[in-house]
Amino acid sequence: MAQHLSGPPRLDGQVALITGGAGGMGRAIAAAFHAAGARVVATDRAEHEDIGPGIEYRRYDVTSRAETDRVIDAVLAAHGKVDVLVLCAGIIARTPLADSSDDEWDAILSVNVKGVVNPARKLFPLMCKRGFGKVLAAGSIAAKNGGVASGPAYVASKAAVHGMMRWMAKAGAPHGVYANTLAPGPVETAMWASVTGQAAPSANATVPLGRYGNAEDIAQAALFLCSPASNWITGTSLDISGGMWMD
Ligand SMILES: NC(=O)c1ccc[n+]([C@@H]2O[C@H](COP(=O)([O-])OP(=O)(O)OC[C@H]3O[C@@H](n4cnc5c(N)ncnc54)[C@H](O)[C@@H]3O)[C@@H](O)[C@H]2O)c1
Repeated sequence: MAQHLSGPPRLDGQVALITGGAGGMGRAIAAAFHAAGARVVATDRAEHEDIGPGIEYRRYDVTSRAETDRVIDAVLAAHGKVDVLVLCAGIIARTPLADSSDDEWDAILSVNVKGVVNPARKLFPLMCKRGFGKVLAAGSIAAKNGGVASGPAYVASKAAVHGMMRWMAKAGAPHGVYANTLAPGPVETAMWASVTGQAAPSANATVPLGRYGNAEDIAQAALFLCSPASNWITGTSLDISGGMWMD
């Protein structure tokens, strides 16, 4: 039977775990989910972060499977479940292909791909067993358009994320587990500043809606895709780019 929803998306009673939770997008998503009624655990590699009132913080490195398992076990012991997993940890480089080193490829694939795989392979089976879960990963417009201010390692890593999430959407659907990906264009966070510095091209010239994104734009899309408002959406890559990419 259809479930009738009214008002803005809510996450009452749900437990949400966010990686990259001390970053621009992760922090805004944590605040939006908390305001929507979720118990939020933000994680990041940064030390002693104060993410905001009512938001729990745990420090760990997503590239380590052992650390991931340890933190998720602790969250499960404290909260009993994880309903929503948001994967926002990421790093970027814009080195052209010929100059890109093995170390750079290893670092980017390790954080951007294994940093999605590690929490997912721990929680996805548990979500399937429980019969519910929503997983959302930060992909990128770069996976679709070849990159705005990013090098090939970043583009390849984000393409892997979009593919991995589609696999998860197919495998999870019969068990009530959703998997979606955000495909943001340039969003004004530390990451965007790190690749463009003072040299960011004018948004008027490059973005149809005339401005770059902000973390709140991303947080509201994340809330929609993790809430019951999107209960017939799985396996999507949501373009959220001010019209820079349309498919
Ligand atoms: N800002 C943009 O323009 C943009 C566009 C498209 C996609 N994205 C993606 O969105 C996500 C969030 O980006 P953001 O703009 O908020 O960047 P950000 O740099 O503000 O946040 C990224 C966070 O990831 C954390 N992190 C990095 N490596 C980690 C590790 N090994 N373990 C744990 N945490 C780690 C960082 O400490 C940081 O807090 C990233 O995956 C990024 O690739 C960003």
